[in-house]
Amino acid sequence: MEKILIKDIEKHIGNEVKLQGWIRNYRKASSKLRFIIFRDGSGHIQAVAFKPELGEEKFDIVKKLTIESSVELIGIPNKHPKNEGVFEFQLTDINIVDLAPEFPISKKEHGPDFLLSHRHLWLRSPKQNALMKIRHTIYFAICNYLNDNDFYRFDSPILTPNASEGTTTLFEVPYFDQGNAYLSQSGQLYLEAGIMSLGRVYDFGPVFRAEKSKTRKHLTEFWMMDAEAAFVEHAENMEIQENLIRFVIQTVINKNRKELEILERDIEQLQKADAPFKKMSHREAIDLLKSKGVEIGYGDDFGAAEEELLTADSDVPLFIDRWPKEIKSFYMKRDPDDENIVLGSDMIAPEGFGEIIGGSQREDDHDLLLERIKKENYDIKDYQWFLDLRKFGSVPHSGFGIGLERLIQWMSGVRHIREVIPFPRMIHRIYP
Ligand code: 4AD
Ligand code: MG
Repeated sequence: MEKILIKDIEKHIGNEVKLQGWIRNYRKASSKLRFIIFRDGSGHIQAVAFKPELGEEKFDIVKKLTIESSVELIGIPNKHPKNEGVFEFQLTDINIVDLAPEFPISKKEHGPDFLLSHRHLWLRSPKQNALMKIRHTIYFAICNYLNDNDFYRFDSPILTPNASEGTTTLFEVPYFDQGNAYLSQSGQLYLEAGIMSLGRVYDFGPVFRAEKSKTRKHLTEFWMMDAEAAFVEHAENMEIQENLIRFVIQTVINKNRKELEILERDIEQLQKADAPFKKMSHREAIDLLKSKGVEIGYGDDFGAAEEELLTADSDVPLFIDRWPKEIKSFYMKRDPDDENIVLGSDMIAPEGFGEIIGGSQREDDHDLLLERIKKENYDIKDYQWFLDLRKFGSVPHSGFGIGLERLIQWMSGVRHIREVIPFPRMIHRIYP
């Protein structure tokens, strides 16, 4: 008996095959007829159990089925008599693998806390399944784009001696007799070493920030793709980001139409985002906000509300660049035209999804970088290796980091970040 996946069902019309998976739901049509909604990870299908065909004994097994029991179904796939593109499975045999007791998650509304405590089971629901599939697509779309554009994968460490994104969100880990190590906030600094060997590199993995904020956009453990390229300056850095994100949009629309529909995502809105992105300086953004009545100064950072206002009239993402040096990281290169401005950029997604990428040209001058490390009160000896990169064949270079979950949120239209990672880690949640 050939074992197949539901996604391939069309290739097996009329032939008896085996499916393995779980009962999503069932329905009694008459004393002789039952319908089973069955899923196997690759898709779902309605199986038809008809007593005269299945026999008394096997039909009794069907009658015992419960939601989320695991089973093997044997039967014949057919085209649905009325609905184009829909298939049915005519049951000829059934084996229960494990009969489940009452499933804690039912059709009725559950609060987020209940669902998060049952995340291990919640992942089976159609929306969560769709989100995990979109996450898979986006992860590989990013890798494929970079692989095809001469970036080498270069894995950065998670245990690190120093901070890359400021000391306020560091997780400390006792490290033998060497004091404390920290969980990485971004692999960027290590990628800067990687480019001096390989030219263009990226990493992609979990990073950690002890974020005290309880927002829809913050996790304490999230996935970041950092990319870094030698001989790339500020403007080209933004071009690479734009091309990459447009490739991701196209790939998700191509591969995940079904999942986007399950999530009721407005696909047209996504299509509109695949057009030239907008750009303004931080100063211009402040002026725009002032003109909309926001009380804000030229040295201020943006919160979610400001980001939303700035992209309110836009279908495409917005780059905000040329930031005041005080509110950006120590490693960003200064604007040659203005000592107080850095060549950094944030990419803000439309529809209120906020910042999805942070990037910049990096300071490549040894003495200027040393000065800034001192100013941050960092211990020079922890950064000596990073300074060395400016001593042995320093080159202009730039890079950026994508927050994978932020990007999934935008692509799938999900308002809270906790749903787009298998097991979210937030300030008040570490279980399951
Ligand atoms: O803007 P960030 O802090 O940039 C960096 O870490 C750079 N070192 C990256 C680089 O240049 N290689 O973080 C990058 C992105 C943000 O734009 C956001 O999308 C996401 O990471 N991010 C978070 N996502 C979820 N939860 C959090 N707590 C996040 N903090 C940042
Ligand atoms: Mg940022």
